[in-house]
Amino acid sequence: MDKVGLFFGTDSGTTRLIGKKIAKLLGGDLVAKPLNINRATLDDLLQYDVLILGTATYGNGELPGAANNVKAGSWLEFLPHLAGADLTGKTIALYGLGDQEKYGDRFVNGMAKLYQVVKGLGATVVGDWPTDDYTYTQSDAVIDGRFVGLAIDNNSQGMLTDARLAAWTAAVKPQLEEALAAANVV
Ligand SMILES: Cc1cc2nc3c(=O)[nH]c(=O)nc-3n(C[C@H](O)[C@H](O)[C@H](O)COP(=O)(O)O)c2cc1C
Repeated sequence: MDKVGLFFGTDSGTTRLIGKKIAKLLGGDLVAKPLNINRATLDDLLQYDVLILGTATYGNGELPGAANNVKAGSWLEFLPHLAGADLTGKTIALYGLGDQEKYGDRFVNGMAKLYQVVKGLGATVVGDWPTDDYTYTQSDAVIDGRFVGLAIDNNSQGMLTDARLAAWTAAVKPQLEEALAAANVV
């Protein structure tokens, strides 16, 4: 597949909105139309060698899904399908939505859950992001002092979102392009 697949898990739509902005910033030549993970099959996702996966955080620092009152279903319903998959050779960039003011003891922990799953299945994760300018007490999504992907807080730091998106997409774009080029060399 000569494009980057973008899949997101949302309840109230912000993670979709951010996914669309990421796709637009990276360009339609590079990124396929963002798809809600609750409408995706395993094959939809596995057709891509390079992916961007986004998620909100719900419950007690969990991924969205019916168990956390996301009635349309989301990552929690999809992940069991992914369980046996081999993601070796795939390159994945992550973004996560959260609210550091209300949930500063578990900020963007949903992104940490996605990270653990895809790393555990063998994927290479790119697109880590500095923790500067965020105020939280604990986040499982921070490893070695950096977020494992782009952290977006549209609730209490919405005014920083566009600048963060611009900087992150600029940083991650060459890595995604390089991974695509490598995957297409047979
Ligand atoms: C019931 C509930 C629980 C939440 N739990 C967390 C959490 O544990 N950590 C966090 O960072 N954000 C948490 N949030 C904030 C959401 O992740 C944030 O508002 C996000 O932007 C929602 O994305 P969506 O519009 O795509 O559903 C929670 C929000 C709600 C309503």
